[in-house]
Amino acid sequence: MVEKKVLKIGVMGAQMGGAHTRSMKALGDRAVITAICEKNPEIYNRVDGWVRPETKFYTDFDEFIHSGIDAVILANYFHEHAKYAIKAFEAGVDVLSETTAAPSLAECVQLVEAYEKYGRKYSLAVNCSYFDSVYNMRNKIRSGEAGKVLYAEAEYYHSADKHAVGAFNSDINNLHWRQTLPGSYYNMHTLGALMYATDSMPKTVWCKSIHVPGAYILPTKLTDSPGAVVITEMDNGAVFKTTGCSSIKPTSKWYRINCENFCMESERYDESEKKYIQAKGHGDVEITIPGSVNVGLDTPDIQAIKAKFDEQIEHGGVSHGGIDLYNKVHFINYLNGEEESEFDIYKAVTLSAVGILGWYSVLTGKEFRIPDFRNPEDRDKIRWDTRMPFAKKYEELTLPCKLEERDKFDLYDQKYKFGL
Ligand SMILES: NC(=O)c1ccc[n+]([C@@H]2O[C@H](COP(=O)([O-])OP(=O)(O)OC[C@H]3O[C@@H](n4cnc5c(N)ncnc54)[C@H](O)[C@@H]3O)[C@@H](O)[C@H]2O)c1
Repeated sequence: MVEKKVLKIGVMGAQMGGAHTRSMKALGDRAVITAICEKNPEIYNRVDGWVRPETKFYTDFDEFIHSGIDAVILANYFHEHAKYAIKAFEAGVDVLSETTAAPSLAECVQLVEAYEKYGRKYSLAVNCSYFDSVYNMRNKIRSGEAGKVLYAEAEYYHSADKHAVGAFNSDINNLHWRQTLPGSYYNMHTLGALMYATDSMPKTVWCKSIHVPGAYILPTKLTDSPGAVVITEMDNGAVFKTTGCSSIKPTSKWYRINCENFCMESERYDESEKKYIQAKGHGDVEITIPGSVNVGLDTPDIQAIKAKFDEQIEHGGVSHGGIDLYNKVHFINYLNGEEESEFDIYKAVTLSAVGILGWYSVLTGKEFRIPDFRNPEDRDKIRWDTRMPFAKKYEELTLPCKLEERDKFDLYDQKYKFGL
């Protein structure tokens, strides 16, 4: 039997990157973290102790990406993944990217075209898809038991608490992305999980942001809305209603998928996301806790990895209840040619485009068609559109982050040749 190479992985960003680093530790015999890129050495302690003594720390991305790594986990700023993913492809390095794949329509196109040009591997690091409840829904749909998907809902409320890294930043000349993030953009935990579970792609988007003048919003936030409601029509005709990341109390993630044969949902405020509810009709409601082994999440090799991983729990080694392990295991299998990307680049940029066009919908009141990123004609219609609601300074935003500034947005600005 040919010995498998131990893959060398780099992690960029040591906040959420710290969580990736901790769950990578259990994969020690298949992949190791050899490099960390973090410009703020004050937070090296988040990964220290979870990496090997020989792991190198970098503050410069170019040195880091050429340090001999096979793949990079991008856990840097939300709006800067595409540009670093492209640099990684150019350097011959594969990519597992945190959400969002790209912050503008132009960068969605650039990312896909670099992927096709350099022939590297790419996956979006979906994690909520691996909640037991959501994965069970996926199985029931893929096996045909549930019948056709008709309608689905997913909500992600994250009240602005101490976990919202960056949202408390008060340096107005060095804004953090969480301060200007419109509700529709952070959609991986909702629409992303539903796309994964139902294996469907969004075709159109219509969106409303929640705008209640005078309602409390964290003072350091520069948006004027705590969240957004997004309606997407999927490629099989199903309709989904989701939120982006909405700063509404209390913090909650919840999923519901109505199919021809029954309705499946998770239980609100069950933080473990392990409870699964299946309803056929009046009085015919089954509530189970299927468990990750039963829903097929924990294959024998994952069980072996988890056995090591469980030892880490006492030492604070897991994040998000343990789901962060799965995207790394699947990514390593993908790098080794054992499976396909769990959430490929075309899905990833489509998900980003829903977030972006969802915000365009809020600003204009219109519904938008989602581009087909495999179609060169669709790419040409949007490749000029570099607008985004993220910048260092407020006056540098190329897209308003406030609903009240919607008049600043000209959808048909000639400079962008917007054509969808
Ligand atoms: N999947 C999840 O459940 C989950 C949870 C939290 C965050 N995230 C994602 O993780 C990413 C990071 O978010 P976060 O919460 O960690 O906060 P963050 O965005 O503040 O952290 C980013 C880190 O990257 C570092 N960094 C940025 N640019 C760099 C550069 N050019 N060179 C070196 N270091 C650089 C910063 O110093 C910072 O420590 C975001 O994309 C976010 O969407 C995902």
